[in-house]
Amino acid sequence: MSASSPLVSLQGVGQTFANGVTALRGLDLDLRAGEFVSLLGPSGCGKSSALRLIAGLATPTEGALRWRAGERPDIGFVFQDATLMPWATIFENVWLPLRLRHVSRAEAAPAIGEALARVGLSAFAQAFPRELSGGMKMRVSIARALVLRPALLLMDEPFAALDEITRLRLNRDLLALQAELGMTVLFVTHSVYESAFLSSRICVFSERPGRIVTQINVEAPAPRDEGYRLSRAYLETCRAASQALEDVMSQESAA
Ligand SMILES: Nc1ncnc2c1ncn2[C@@H]1O[C@H](COP(=O)(O)OP(=O)(O)OP(=O)(O)O)[C@@H](O)[C@H]1O
Ligand SMILES: [Mg+2]
Repeated sequence: MSASSPLVSLQGVGQTFANGVTALRGLDLDLRAGEFVSLLGPSGCGKSSALRLIAGLATPTEGALRWRAGERPDIGFVFQDATLMPWATIFENVWLPLRLRHVSRAEAAPAIGEALARVGLSAFAQAFPRELSGGMKMRVSIARALVLRPALLLMDEPFAALDEITRLRLNRDLLALQAELGMTVLFVTHSVYESAFLSSRICVFSERPGRIVTQINVEAPAPRDEGYRLSRAYLETCRAASQALEDVMSQESAA
């Protein structure tokens, strides 16, 4: 396959759980290298299920995932809660993915130092999670996801539990990180505004069983700064995404 083929392609993916619930049906999604794609959709429509399939934490019951390299690359996963080990230092928390690969503390130290520096937490390597604010814990979680240098970063409502100011700051920092590292990001959010700020493409899901019903390309150039939040292009994207969501919900209530 050529370098321009998608990093991963989901083709007609469906997921039915053992209890009979069908979370996804007919999900088609191509992710290209370097894209920032948001999944936006009603609660329970299958967004987290889609992320879990891509991460390899579950297998589809219908359809297939095709990886460009023929196999899944290294993937970072950031959940809504920081999910840190409370008894371990920040250094040890970020070490975890490497430790699972039998990389010793000493061998891992440079990569851990770099990941912590990228999220602005170099000074906190020896701290414990309880000593950090919610935003700082989320930064640790991002550092842990970055420590393997993943080609693909999956984020499931990572900033939903944070206050607005911290969220705006982390949005900005995330874009800077993506630009530096050139990774592909797939980002689940409930927020139209967040998706419009971050994304190069917004995929709007139907109600369950989820599939993508509308895609919105966001052409706005870098840098996406605070000025972008006041721009016409941003407001136009918010409007289009809100409208698409409303259409999805009203189809449901009409059904
Ligand atoms: N392991 C499971 N077993 C059975 N049903 C499941 C399982 N995981 C998810 N579901 C169901 O699948 C549907 C989709 O769930 P999912 O968590 O993917 O939704 P979501 O879009 O992420 O929702 P939210 O926005 O609220 O996080 C829901 O009805 C959920 O109850
Ligand atoms: Mg979810």
